[in-house]
Amino acid sequence: MSSLLEPLKIGPHTLKNRLFCAPMVDVTDLPYRLICQEAGAGYTCTEMLYVDAITHENAPTKKLMETSPQEDLKIIQVTGNTLAEFKKALPILKTYDIVDLNCGCPSIRITGNKAGSYLLTNPKKIASIVKLLTKAGITTTVKIRLGFKEYNALEVAQAVEKAGAQAITVHCRLATHSNKTPADWSWIPKIKQALKIPVIGNGDVTSPERAKQMLTLCDGVMIARAAMGDPDLFVRCITYAKDGTILKKDFARNRPYLAKYIAYCKQYNFQDFHRIKQVAGSFLSDFPQAAQKRQALHACKTFAELEIFIQKLE
Ligand SMILES: Cc1cc2nc3c(=O)[nH]c(=O)nc-3n(C[C@H](O)[C@H](O)[C@H](O)COP(=O)(O)O)c2cc1C
Repeated sequence: MSSLLEPLKIGPHTLKNRLFCAPMVDVTDLPYRLICQEAGAGYTCTEMLYVDAITHENAPTKKLMETSPQEDLKIIQVTGNTLAEFKKALPILKTYDIVDLNCGCPSIRITGNKAGSYLLTNPKKIASIVKLLTKAGITTTVKIRLGFKEYNALEVAQAVEKAGAQAITVHCRLATHSNKTPADWSWIPKIKQALKIPVIGNGDVTSPERAKQMLTLCDGVMIARAAMGDPDLFVRCITYAKDGTILKKDFARNRPYLAKYIAYCKQYNFQDFHRIKQVAGSFLSDFPQAAQKRQALHACKTFAELEIFIQKLE
């Protein structure tokens, strides 16, 4: 069994550890990725972007595609359906260190276009997209679920490895499952045993202990919801992996990250206040008077007001 602290090779790249911050729509923009990296995540990734959208000069998508030299690696997640659209996007995709193909998004807006988790119904299509990307010299990884409506994760995993993918993340639910359905980790060892490339386990990792438990089954651990509003979770996971110390979740430990998130939004010109306040609001869930605090947060109109709000939070 590997330690969470061991580096992990994905193709030519070496991650500093095995702790992955999941791609999350409306969350993992550049400022959020930077604070998660600083908290200890060895991998961070853009939110899922439709491959077609990245070739259009659409301003919000361009903003979400932004990376920084401060990032250890530039990793973009894309989905799509036709080889033609991926082919068109190759020059842009080549500028990233890793391209992750999303085969897990269950949103009807995406599956209606036969992309995201719908791709799981056609492992050959997934393999052809992976081949196209890898032949272009792109380090390609794939994020899957256990299946669309039926379980076929093993078949898909084998197809993506054969096609040249350098790692695979398995979110242990079907596309038809809600996030309330317990993640079924029993699939992870089956997939791990069948593949040579790194397998990253995802689903219901909510604590340092759970992260350690997941790592007994595979090569890396990806955390999504539990890291929303709690980037300090990465610190706690690293600390636990180092010497078994269990640190308590505490806003005092997250305040500097929230303040830094706002500072990075300012520095990198992320001005979508609705989005910024949503992200900031996710830090408030454990406060006794969370509703009141959210009201005060939503009244903030400038970065300066947000900074004062964060300083005063207790
Ligand atoms: C708000 C939110 C946004 C998400 N956006 C994405 C995304 O852009 N790409 C992706 O592959 N998965 C996305 N997911 C799924 C997560 O990456 C992850 O697979 C799932 O939440 C299970 O992990 P968890 O139990 O740690 O939350 C999203 C999940 C949430 C809660």
